[in-house]
This record gives sequence, structure tokens and C-alpha cells, in this order.
Amino acid sequence: MKSLLNEKRQVNWKPRPALFVCAAAVVLIWAGKSFGQGEEQAAGKKTYAASCAGCHGLDGKGGERAPDIATRPQVRQFSDAAILEVLQKGVPNTTMPAFSFLDVKTRKAVVAYLRTLQGATTEVNLPGDAQRGQELFFGKGGCSSCHMIQGQGGFFGSDLGKYAQGRSPEAVREAIVAPNRELEPRRRTIVATLANGTTLEGLARNEDNFSLQLLTPDGVIHLLPKNSLAKLSYLERSPMPADYGTKLSAAELDDLVKYLSSFAKEPKNNSKYDDGEEDE
Ligand code: HEC
Ligand code: HEC
Repeated sequence: MKSLLNEKRQVNWKPRPALFVCAAAVVLIWAGKSFGQGEEQAAGKKTYAASCAGCHGLDGKGGERAPDIATRPQVRQFSDAAILEVLQKGVPNTTMPAFSFLDVKTRKAVVAYLRTLQGATTEVNLPGDAQRGQELFFGKGGCSSCHMIQGQGGFFGSDLGKYAQGRSPEAVREAIVAPNRELEPRRRTIVATLANGTTLEGLARNEDNFSLQLLTPDGVIHLLPKNSLAKLSYLERSPMPADYGTKLSAAELDDLVKYLSSFAKEPKNNSKYDDGEEDE
């Protein structure tokens, strides 16, 4: 009996990570005060700087002492409630402390501020409105008749789901307003006139000396033996309309660029905790 108890006690004993209580955070307990919006922002920012930044970095991207909580998808996907719980309880057996000594309002303000850090790492600083951009893409802009995004849209142009990844907003805008700049040969418009006089216009999918697979904007691939054609011409322009720069307003282009950028940047996973290279 005695030895069993001893054993049990031994099993229970673990070297505990030093309980970390940040003195600055204690000072920040805001006794029962309710926040207006501007105040919440200020309080969240202040508390974050005092209580979190030392480990997670001012930008939330982590460092030697703690992981990235700004761009890591797992953390971005946490609900507010889940993050509040992390703050309430800490992460057991790690150096992530519990912040139960902060009142609920202050904890909520920190979560709200963390959300701005998470947003600020992607497209939040761009002008424009991603929602309106999406409406343009699938509506008035007609982009989705040729391009696919997240499984919806046409096959004629490329899938744009990741187009903005690793590209500046200016480059994305340029691709929309100037499709003929630096046109690659395989993206030239091909016009094929059949023996019966019908013309087909599109992009080459595959081509050799004898045959052409022509993709037309309706998504159909036409198999054309070259000797059956009345005429075949290659135009020095993309099939993508070149007039979006005038058809759409500057604000609408901002909306489209913002939309394309909004889901393009899936941040890399940070390893424990700092892989020494920047994500952006
Ligand atoms: C003493 C350093 C330290 C401080 C201060 C600190 N953290 Fe952490 N935090 C950590 C560590 C280490 C982890 C990783 C725990 C793990 O391994 O799961 C972490 C994890 C987290 C997580 C992710 C939890 C998960 O399950 O992935 C969130 C969210 C978080 N911290 C938010 C905060 C906020 C907000 C503050 C300020 C109120 C803060 N942390 C202060 C060290 C710290
Ligand atoms: C008539 C079909 C068509 C329409 C409509 C169209 N595009 Fe395109 N787009 C193309 C083609 C073809 C290309 C060049 C080759 C490719 O992307 O496969 C292209 C290229 C692009 C590129 C560069 C892609 C790359 O991989 O280099 C972007 C960005 C783009 N289009 C955005 C848009 C947006 C935004 C709209 C709506 C405002 C739009 N396009 C409307 C056919 C179209």
C-alpha cells in the first residue's frame, strides 16, 4: 500500500514550467469598466503589448518563446470563444500562461485586437471590398464565365484561386487591365476557319503539325485536323478582354484585386517556433 502511494505521488510529480505572471498585465486589470469601441481597441492593443507581445511578438508572428498566432491557419480558425478559453486557462504544461486575472472585457478586447493582427497579415490594408469584388467576379465583370475560383466558374482561363499568392496587388491589377502585355505565345488567340466557313476562336490546348485542340470560351475542346481547315491565324492578343481598365472603375478594380487577394495567401505553418524566415 505504502509503496503504491509513493509511486503514485512520483507519477504525479512533474517539473512544472515556472508560473509566469506578467506584472504589467496585473496593472492592466480594468475594474468593471465597460468599453466603447475606440476604448476597446485601445485597451486590446495596450494589453496585447504588455501581456502577449513579449512572447508572441508585437505583430503576433511569434518568435523564440511562442508560436505565430497571427498567420497560422489553426489559430485563425479558432472561434473567439476558443481563444477566450485559451486566455482563461492557458495551455497546460506549456509556458502559455492563464490570463484569468484579466477581467472578461479586457480579454475580449485582446481577442478583438488579435483579430486585427490576423487580418493585417493578409489583405486588410488594401483598398477595396472583397465582397463587392466577388460580386463583380461572378456578375457584371463576367470573369467567372472564363475563370474558376474555389471550384466555381469556367474552364477557359486559368483557375485564379491562388493567382494573387506571392504577387503584389499592382501585378494582379496589371494582369486584369493589360492581358496583352508580355503575352506568352501559347496564350495567343487562335482563329480557325473551318471548311464550311464557321470560325472558332480560342486557345490552343495541344497542337502539332497535323492537328490542333482548340479550347473555346464555352469550355469545349475542338479536335481539328489542320488539313481540314480553310484558315488558321494566330492573333497577338489574349482572348481575355483587354478593356477592363476602362469598363471597370478604379474602385471596382480595387474590389477585384482585394477579392483575388483575400483567399490566396494561406500562410505556411510555422515550425517550433521560429523558422527564421519571413512568411510574406
Ligand atoms: C510567456 C510567454 C507567453 C505569453 C506572455 C503569452 N503566450 Fe500565448 N502562447 C505561448 C506558448 C509557448 C504557446 C504555445 C503553447 C503550445 O505549445 O501549444 C502559446 C499559445 C497561444 C495561443 C494558441 C493556443 C493553441 O492552442 O494553439 C494563443 C491564441 C495565445 N497563445 C494567445 C496569447 C495571448 C492573447 C497572450 C496575451 C494575453 C499570450 N498568448 C501570452 C506563450 C505565451
Ligand atoms: C473571355 C474569357 C475571359 C474573361 C471574361 C476574363 N478572362 Fe482573365 N484570362 C483569360 C485568358 C484566356 C487568360 C490567359 C491565359 C489563362 O489565364 O489561362 C486570362 C488571364 C487572366 C489573368 C492572369 C492569369 C495567369 O495565370 O497569368 C488574370 C489575373 C485574369 N485573367 C483575371 C480576370 C478577371 C479578374 C476577369 C474579370 C474582370 C477576367 N480575367 C475575365 C480569359 C478571360
